[in-house]
Amino acid sequence: VPARRQRLDRFLSAFYGINRKQVKALLASRQFEVNGARALDCDQLIDAFSCIRCEGEVLQDKQAIYLMLHKPAGVVSATVDEHHRTVIDLIDHPDKHSLHIVGRLDLNSSGLVLLTNDSRWSRSLMEPGRDVAKVYQVTLGRVIEPECIEAFAAGMYFPYEDLTTRPAVLERVSDTEAIVTLVEGRYHQIKRMFGRFRNPVLALHRVSVGGIMLDPGLASGHYRHLYPAEII
Ligand code: URA
Repeated sequence: VPARRQRLDRFLSAFYGINRKQVKALLASRQFEVNGARALDCDQLIDAFSCIRCEGEVLQDKQAIYLMLHKPAGVVSATVDEHHRTVIDLIDHPDKHSLHIVGRLDLNSSGLVLLTNDSRWSRSLMEPGRDVAKVYQVTLGRVIEPECIEAFAAGMYFPYEDLTTRPAVLERVSDTEAIVTLVEGRYHQIKRMFGRFRNPVLALHRVSVGGIMLDPGLASGHYRHLYPAEII
């Protein structure tokens, strides 16, 4: 999903504080470039990451950033926090403060966290109707009861939010380990769902979001840029 697009004349009109007619004259009289190519048309479409120049002067030049981070437990999914290290503290990038988190993980959870400065991309990933699957490895304090599987599939009513969770898939890997797939992310959802069965979650690790898998080569606390094929 590309960043939000708008017409070039709209951008220039806002940038210079002039009307569309004046923009038209300006485009004809001065040499504007979009991503290195001469721009002459008012209705040319640009986005937040198009490089726009006028005779050497840079009007806009922002790189889209898409990162995957292997979040360790104990690091908070926030951009600022008084008490804990944040996911941003783990990033070494000059524009790291322009990043936002695409789907938080609890303080004590680990695994895949996506960060970007492209809000259109993050919004499209998290859109309710898109049902992007998030997959978690869960370690439990007690044996997983078979009824759990049906309860996760049926959806659970949370009175506090007055909602029923969307069908979730629970696969038992061993007596006390499971793979859980959610298409939403309610507050402490997996912990609360197992809590109904008085089964404490000892460890929660996110392995994927949609088609994006946590890179097995990425050590805890490390990050990398997404590959183009991962940015869908
Ligand atoms: N469910 C939880 O309880 N915690 C998370 O971080 C994600 C899903």
